[in-house]
Amino acid sequence: MKICCIGAGYVGGPTMAVIALKCPSVEVVVVDISAKRIAAWNSDRLPIYEPRLYEIVDQCRGRNLSFSTDVERHVSEADIVFISVNTPTKTCGLGAGKAADLTYWESAARTIADVSTSDKIVVEKSTVPVRTGESLKKILTHNSKGINYQILSNPEFLAEGTAVQDLLRPDRVLIGGLETPEGQKAVQVLKDVYAHWVPEDRIITINLWSAELSKLVANAYLAQRISSINAISALCEATGADVSEVAHAVGEDSRVGPMYLNASFGFGGSAFIKDILSLVYICECNGLTDVAEYWKQVLKINDFQKNRFVKRVISSMFNTVVGKKIAVLGFAFKKDTGDTRDAPGIDVCKGLLDDEATLSIYDPQVSEEQIRYDLTMQKLDWDRSSSNKLLILSPTEMKQVHTASNAYEAAEEAHGVCILTDWDEFRELDYRKIYEAMCKPAFIFDGRNVVDPEKLRAIGFIVYSIGKPLDPWVKSRAVAG
Ligand code: NAI
Repeated sequence: MKICCIGAGYVGGPTMAVIALKCPSVEVVVVDISAKRIAAWNSDRLPIYEPRLYEIVDQCRGRNLSFSTDVERHVSEADIVFISVNTPTKTCGLGAGKAADLTYWESAARTIADVSTSDKIVVEKSTVPVRTGESLKKILTHNSKGINYQILSNPEFLAEGTAVQDLLRPDRVLIGGLETPEGQKAVQVLKDVYAHWVPEDRIITINLWSAELSKLVANAYLAQRISSINAISALCEATGADVSEVAHAVGEDSRVGPMYLNASFGFGGSAFIKDILSLVYICECNGLTDVAEYWKQVLKINDFQKNRFVKRVISSMFNTVVGKKIAVLGFAFKKDTGDTRDAPGIDVCKGLLDDEATLSIYDPQVSEEQIRYDLTMQKLDWDRSSSNKLLILSPTEMKQVHTASNAYEAAEEAHGVCILTDWDEFRELDYRKIYEAMCKPAFIFDGRNVVDPEKLRAIGFIVYSIGKPLDPWVKSRAVAG
């Protein structure tokens, strides 16, 4: 059997590497239009950082796993074709700022239709709007040359930073197919692939539309949990309750569970925001305005939380950060990844730069080039009907951005430190050394609750931790709006 995956990204690469590892008899080829990405997959420095990924790729590459730019050849030779291309939010035209941009997806589908000469199972791995399988069928069969295509939905639930572990031991694998005999036969073929390492009771087979929608709903639920605890963090700060204690007390209830209850300055990443926007748009297109408004609140609270964090920083530092050096620890949207797509830290940095701070940014996995790119990028304002552009940094503001090669260098002579990613190394820094090298009074704003505020106060820092009892100084500074 030959499997071809179109899209060698955060999902295509790790997913196919694990299939190749667990199914030695299957030939797996990952193809991409980006020659740079493919070259990196074929090198010692993979294009994405994921713990344990390199070992697996190294073990399978040259055996039954390969990476290629020859999209047409490998698609035409494959029995199963996964589509794992990016489906970002549309930036212009109908549905801009909300709808999923299916340009890449459509081009992948058209390639399959154009080059296929034998029957194929085509698997939607990308996260797509519900009923995209119908459009896929239309594209594939417009000139099918007698070829039989079976379409399956097999959304991916891995989380960046734990992708390998998630793929090796998934909570569940979801396979959606049409309820026809041919559709069910195709479901069984894909099920047999996963059955090489996933226990059968964890492979859920459902109808195609349910599978497509389940992925969007799963992400919306996870994001909703974060926004819920983040909303409560604001109330904790106002009342003296401690959000970690509240989260623990609530999460112990088996009906709630403990996961995704860590308060932070906001969530980001390539999936949550775009998938909720896509869900909102689908609801609106189906005339379900109230349902759309309900899910929009999850994003509104996320924006509220990021703004609140910036306001805390500025108000605590005597209402001005003009010319002050602020060390930013972490830029990736979460630990153990170098991915910065929709990272909440981007908005915080832009907010501080807007108030004329000077930033010294350190992240163990994000390059200076990426940081500068993200800070100069325009961002769509999802909450307006027009596709308004938000802040674009001026060249002067970009001069206020510096990067550092470690946390100590970033904090040297800084007035404040903002912790924006939960990298383990930030828990173990020598904060006394950092304190001594900083301007006084020295402020720490912990957007991820990775440090112990009491220990830092004992050193001499003025500390703000999300949702924790406030330092008297921070509390005394009113935050408007
Ligand atoms: P990505 O942007 O890292 O990778 C997509 C790749 O597809 C790119 O390398 C791009 O060059 C390639 N591509 C685009 N059009 C192509 C075409 N016509 N032919 C060949 N290659 C093409 O995206 P990522 O993060 O891997 O996401 C892929 C899909 O999986 C998205 O729909 C995403 O929502 C979904 N997903 C992402 C997760 C994540 O953690 N990143 C988790 C679960 C699902």
